[in-house]
Amino acid sequence: MPDVPKFVGRFPQLRPRRNRRHDWSRRLVRENRLLVDDLILPTFVIDGENVVEPVSSMPGVNRLTIDRLIEQIREAKDLGIPAVAIFPVTPSKLKTADGREATNPDNLICRSLRAIRDTGIEIGLIADVALDPYTSHGQDGVLRDGYVANDESLDVLAVQAVVQATAGSNVIAPSDMMDGRVGVIRTALDAAGHNDVAIMSYAAKYASSFYGPFRDAVGSSGTLGQGDKRTYQMDPANIDEALREVGLDIAEGADMVMIKPGMPYLDVIQRVRRTFGVPTFAYQVSGEYAMLNAAAERGWLDRDSVMLESLLAFKRAGSDGILTYFALDAARRLNGS
Ligand code: PBG
Repeated sequence: MPDVPKFVGRFPQLRPRRNRRHDWSRRLVRENRLLVDDLILPTFVIDGENVVEPVSSMPGVNRLTIDRLIEQIREAKDLGIPAVAIFPVTPSKLKTADGREATNPDNLICRSLRAIRDTGIEIGLIADVALDPYTSHGQDGVLRDGYVANDESLDVLAVQAVVQATAGSNVIAPSDMMDGRVGVIRTALDAAGHNDVAIMSYAAKYASSFYGPFRDAVGSSGTLGQGDKRTYQMDPANIDEALREVGLDIAEGADMVMIKPGMPYLDVIQRVRRTFGVPTFAYQVSGEYAMLNAAAERGWLDRDSVMLESLLAFKRAGSDGILTYFALDAARRLNGS
């Protein structure tokens, strides 16, 4: 923790409002800024051609076929967004108990990554590692006696990471919360010659109810049913445990760490950033996006203002960047268009 500043002075000599009086003085004393460089756009890809499928619980977000996804990625690049995260919507006939489609080098995410790479668009590509888009039960790992088996899941996740890196992903983002996955993935990537592929670990990912719209988008809410992920995702009550998780992931080779969800967990972001000083990211998740949009649709909140304010709050808390479904709109606003 940095030293606590000691404020000296009192009213009426000291009037904090003086610095707030003008636009120029507010700009001069501003402590944090939201930049297009801070934004990561999460996207959803579906099979087929020339299809744009709206996600009803996430107004403005669509599932896109690869051709349309490439258009969106080109737009993100033109706006100056540094990176995109791609999530596949796996056709249900390919979902199995062991989630083996995750390791198929020709699965939807791998075909997407190759197609985007082939366009030559220079943008960071982030691919998630977890089995939930591929399992018939919607859990992030494989089951043994109804329990998500840690070490058996690691074997599959490591292969999944390698096929995605081979297909062109620059960053592997394990979101599964199995113990030891960062180390196993790092070893597997290096053994396959992918020592330049980075790991952005979902280090402190909470068993949150704010993921609902995402699960609708990728079609894992149906498969998960009444199930939950509390035996591997973190208890929302805990923060010291988040530091231990982050410490483990850094020791295992994580290049960047992520806290998720975002807005209800700003305290976690702040402590992680101050404790470790490593690149720290926040995920403003689907439920946060849905919430703000629902209120804006009713005229209860101003969409653009709460979008920019909520994103700036992540910067103030110490995030180096934010995964947000607002990325395109926020970039447009920040670019003045
Ligand atoms: C899958 C995954 C989830 C999210 C990102 N990767 C959902 C979950 O863990 O059930 C959530 C993202 C969001 O809500 O926007 N492991």
